[in-house]
Amino acid sequence: MESEMHILETEKLQIGMTLGENIYRNEQLVISEGVTLNIRHIQMLKRMSIVQVKVLEKRSVKKAFPIKQEISEKYKSSVESFKKICYGVTIGNFVIYDEVKDCIDPLIRELETKPEMALKLWQIYTADFYTYEHSVKVCMLSILLSKWMNKPQVFIDEIGKVGLLHDIGKCNIPNEILNKPDVLTEEEFSVMKTHSTLGYVLLSSTKELDRNILKGVLHHHERFDGTGYPAKLSGKSIPEYARIVSVVDIFDAMTSNRIYREKMNPYKVFEIMSEGSSGALDSDISNFFLDKIKRSYLGELVLLNSGEVAKIHNVESGVHHRPIIELNGQIVDLSVNHSIEIKSLFIS
Ligand SMILES: [Fe+2]
Ligand SMILES: [Fe+2]
Repeated sequence: MESEMHILETEKLQIGMTLGENIYRNEQLVISEGVTLNIRHIQMLKRMSIVQVKVLEKRSVKKAFPIKQEISEKYKSSVESFKKICYGVTIGNFVIYDEVKDCIDPLIRELETKPEMALKLWQIYTADFYTYEHSVKVCMLSILLSKWMNKPQVFIDEIGKVGLLHDIGKCNIPNEILNKPDVLTEEEFSVMKTHSTLGYVLLSSTKELDRNILKGVLHHHERFDGTGYPAKLSGKSIPEYARIVSVVDIFDAMTSNRIYREKMNPYKVFEIMSEGSSGALDSDISNFFLDKIKRSYLGELVLLNSGEVAKIHNVESGVHHRPIIELNGQIVDLSVNHSIEIKSLFIS
């Protein structure tokens, strides 16, 4: 396969790109030419203040998978506004209702006309501002899911606020724990788990926020089988806002880059979530969500474990993560052919 060399700014690097030069630090080779970049490589290059690097692009792959970075301006400005809200919280301010509204309302309007935008968000490279971007994405996906469920406008407005604010308590969790690149110790995890209660207490001072919104925030880590926190609620005793947000929260966390692991492609997430949804999540909600998402990928291109490119041909099969694909002119049902795996998906 033919390759082309490009010079690319470090800011624009993406996981999976091939490095086209050796990178040295103090005359020592730290990343070699030909390496497939992962999140740690990209972070290392940024830390070393390297502004641009050479990357190799395989021509046919480039054509099949155009890199999309056209992110909605409204999304970007909501992330910025939410960052300001979070900064206020870290210096001891309360959350101002109008600022929350100003952050969400443009997103609600955007989703009226471009609902597919929320489905493309998982492609965005997130590492440095995970909590902000995650909160805005969970907000948008919760709104979208509630619209799909035909919920009334009041419900949609409120769940948007639960989605945006669900992790606001993390602003008061020490950075060493929040951004630790390794697995948390038991003690650190118990500190991390306080974020839902911290968020609830903080938001209680914002009088305009309805109690149902506060309860959604407080209970977003409860699990359907009773294994969650803080109250170990189970089944339908978990408020509906929390049951919806937790489905979206888990989907977004798995499809985003984290400091300790790279994002998974949605098909891998479908597999994990369909297996786990019968216990931890409200399976009616999660199956409905996964079904809607998988349908939106009809006609998109996927990269297979063989290195070949295929098209999603039919999404009617009962298995979320094994659609029917079109490969070299042949129709292949992945729910029958188990030797083929989907490695990545790119939405046009
Ligand atoms: Fe959380
Ligand atoms: Fe979250």
